[in-house]
Amino acid sequence: MKERNPAGESPEKKAAGIAAADLVTDGMVVGLGTGSTTAYTIAELGRRVDEGLDIIAVVTSYQSEMLAIQAGITLTSLAEHPELDIAIDGADQIDAGLNVIKGGGAAHTREKVVSRSAERFVIVADESKYSEQLNHYVPLEVLPYAKELVSKQVRKMGGDPVLRLASRKDGPVISDNGNFIIDASLGVIETPVIISALLSQVAGIVEHGIFTNVDEVYIGKKDGSVEIM
Ligand code: 5RP
Repeated sequence: MKERNPAGESPEKKAAGIAAADLVTDGMVVGLGTGSTTAYTIAELGRRVDEGLDIIAVVTSYQSEMLAIQAGITLTSLAEHPELDIAIDGADQIDAGLNVIKGGGAAHTREKVVSRSAERFVIVADESKYSEQLNHYVPLEVLPYAKELVSKQVRKMGGDPVLRLASRKDGPVISDNGNFIIDASLGVIETPVIISALLSQVAGIVEHGIFTNVDEVYIGKKDGSVEIM
């Protein structure tokens, strides 16, 4: 089937995505993240598979599944391969302590499961994603019937919850797992580990977008260079 890809080229994302693909070697089981930066990693891995690279991969979304199939990468599942050598994924914001916020593509639940299944978790991003401290809204995947309860709990934490809509006149965004996404603005997140633990305790939140298990970050710069943090 023909597909339309509206995303424009980004040299910064491309540089980071391709540089991180170099970490992947023969025999690895690889977790493939979701988003426009990881798309470059998937394309690069596909190019190397054409040249003989021998890997199998687990995807984090229907989006990364489609890209991996197009790239000719052999897919497996966490049921068959529960331990991954590496997971490479994008981020919406990264702080100085390598804590990240993810879920701009509503895929953070599977992304977290995949990242926690991996020996090494690498983030790829352009430099606009870096901030000394996290202050981006936190995507929450919520059970649809728990959206009011979750919103109430987020307000109690001093946050501002907004249900993510597909467009102004469409209904809510539905995740690959059939759930809603609430974007919760929580101001500056000074203690990501504590906020992460608090959000994990809220009934109805399937998973939140704060990740505190990142090993390395590849930041692509405008001049095409890549900084590794
Ligand atoms: C999807 C994500 C993405 O990795 C994140 O939104 C970054 O996307 P992009 O690389 O397109 O900027 O977390 O849920």
